[in-house]
Order: sequence, then C-alpha cells, then structure tokens
Amino acid sequence: MWQQDGVLVRVPASTANLGPGFDTLGMALHLHLWIAMKPAETTVIRLHGSELAGIPTDESNLIYRVAHSVFRAAGVEGRPLEMDVYSEIPLTRGLGSSASAIIGGLYAANALIGHPLSQEQLFNMATLIERHPDNVGASLFGGIIAAAWDGEQTEHIRIEPHGDLSTVVAIPQFQLETKMARNVLPAHVSLADAVFNISRSSLLVAALSSGQLHVIATAMRDRLHQPYRASLIPGMPRILDEAPGHGALGVALSGAGPTLLAFTDKRRSNASLVSYMKETFLAHGVEATVMEVEISREGAVCCGTWDGISSVLAARINL
Ligand code: HSE
Repeated sequence: MWQQDGVLVRVPASTANLGPGFDTLGMALHLHLWIAMKPAETTVIRLHGSELAGIPTDESNLIYRVAHSVFRAAGVEGRPLEMDVYSEIPLTRGLGSSASAIIGGLYAANALIGHPLSQEQLFNMATLIERHPDNVGASLFGGIIAAAWDGEQTEHIRIEPHGDLSTVVAIPQFQLETKMARNVLPAHVSLADAVFNISRSSLLVAALSSGQLHVIATAMRDRLHQPYRASLIPGMPRILDEAPGHGALGVALSGAGPTLLAFTDKRRSNASLVSYMKETFLAHGVEATVMEVEISREGAVCCGTWDGISSVLAARINL
C-alpha cells in the first residue's frame, strides 16, 4: 500500500474572500508549494527557500502532523517520514501559505498510501484544521470555489475562471497574522451590512460563472471585514477605491491581508495598475512587491516521485 518511492506533490497558493465572500469564496493562484514525501526509518524534514525560514523541522511541523492525521483517518499505522519542502508562497501575507501546507500534507500522505481518502474527506479534514473552507478549497480543487461549512461537512462548487481573467497582487513587506486580522472584526453586523454583502457576493459569483466581467468592480465591494481591517493596512482604502480607475476589473483584500488582489483582463497591459499600486502603498510608507500572478486552474496534484524534487529545486534555487 505504501509507495516506497515516495511522492512529489504541488499545491497552489490561494486568495480568499474576493471581497464580499468572507470565509466562502476562494481562488487558486499560480505560486506553489512542493512537498516530496517518503516513508523512512527516522523523520527527516528539509526546508528549502527563504519563504520557509523559521518553520520547525521536527515532528511538530504542520505538514508532518497533518500527514499523520491522514494515516490515522485511513486506519494505517503511521511511519516516520522523510520530506523535502520548497515554497514560493510568501508567509502570513494573505496568500494561503498555511492552507497550502495543510492541503499539501494531507494530499501527499494520502497519495503515499494509495489514495484511500476521497477529495471530499481531505477537504473536510483541511477545513476542520483551518476553520474556514475558502483557502483550503481553492488549493485542493484549483480555479474559483464557493464553499459552505457547517462545522463538520463542507459543500462546494468549483467555477472555471474565465479565460481572460488574471490578477495583479500587491504584497506588502510586512506580515499580518490571520488571528490578528480576525480579532479586529465585530461579533455582530447590521442587517443592512449583511444584505450589502449577500447582494455583492451573489453578484460576484454570477459574474464569475457567466463571464460578465464588467460588474466585478461593483460586486467585489465589502462591508463585513475590509472596513475593519483597513486600520492594519495603510493605503488599503485608497487602493480599493482607486484601482478600478487604473485598469483593475475589481480589487479586494486578499484573505486576511495585507496583500491586495486586483482582477485584470489578460488582453490589456497592467503596467499602469502595477505602478499605481506600488506608488500608492509607498506613499503610505509600505514597501510592496507588485506583480502579475495567473489564476491556477489546477489544484493539488501529484507531479512525480520523491526524487523529482531535485529538479524543482535546481530550477528555482540553483542548487
Ligand atoms: N476568510 C479568511 C479571513 C481568510 O478573511 O479571515 C484568511 O486566510
């Protein structure tokens, strides 16, 4: 049952909420985490690349722990693991780095023992760990997902992204813990704000499903979380207001932030949007990397055996 040659999996980053779809909408992005995993005599975890600095390399490692939760759920006796992990997803910036680690650990472990658990089971397990389905669903299934979670079970529908859609992300240099960005949210909201969000979120899903991209700017507006998180991200309210005037189809805080994500039309140049976002953040004292990132239509996948990690590393960090 164990794949003695090990497995290599690739998992995309994700953006959550897309504005009004708080804890509900997610979309996979073309930045990746790779995990090579195989059974071993003793546990060895090697982390590669600057994005993983400071992450534990013992059995407290998140990927290692979620891998063992798969063995338990599948009724398989756990074994020590040898793992190599490489990530190009910036940590604690609102691009789903922890969700991709959770999905990667679950997916790789399940593949390592012959896929006994279904995708839906992995999604439920991941959501229980992450406590919201948006990022983990996007990383698992790719594309855009709309998901609901009742505390135990998840239900989702995947939306194939329109062929003309792409994104520009503005990633501030500072980190923002999701916990902190959730602590600023109110426990109660007004009916008017709830209706505001339900209408925008419904419109956004309809726009993304039907390809009516002209309503995205209106549909991405939010009153449930962005106004409260604005105090944590200098420059954000101005960029949310002004980016559509610089070529964005719509713009939102990416997950809990601090990254901002703009939808763009692939057929148009993003040069003025990129410089606008960079300069506006800078005018508020925030250094940010602003770049085009494609939507990932693919979710988590097996992309080879364990030793395939050496070519991934050679191509990306010039070993
Ligand atoms: N939906 C979550 C939030 C995403 O906005 O807090 C966090 O990654």
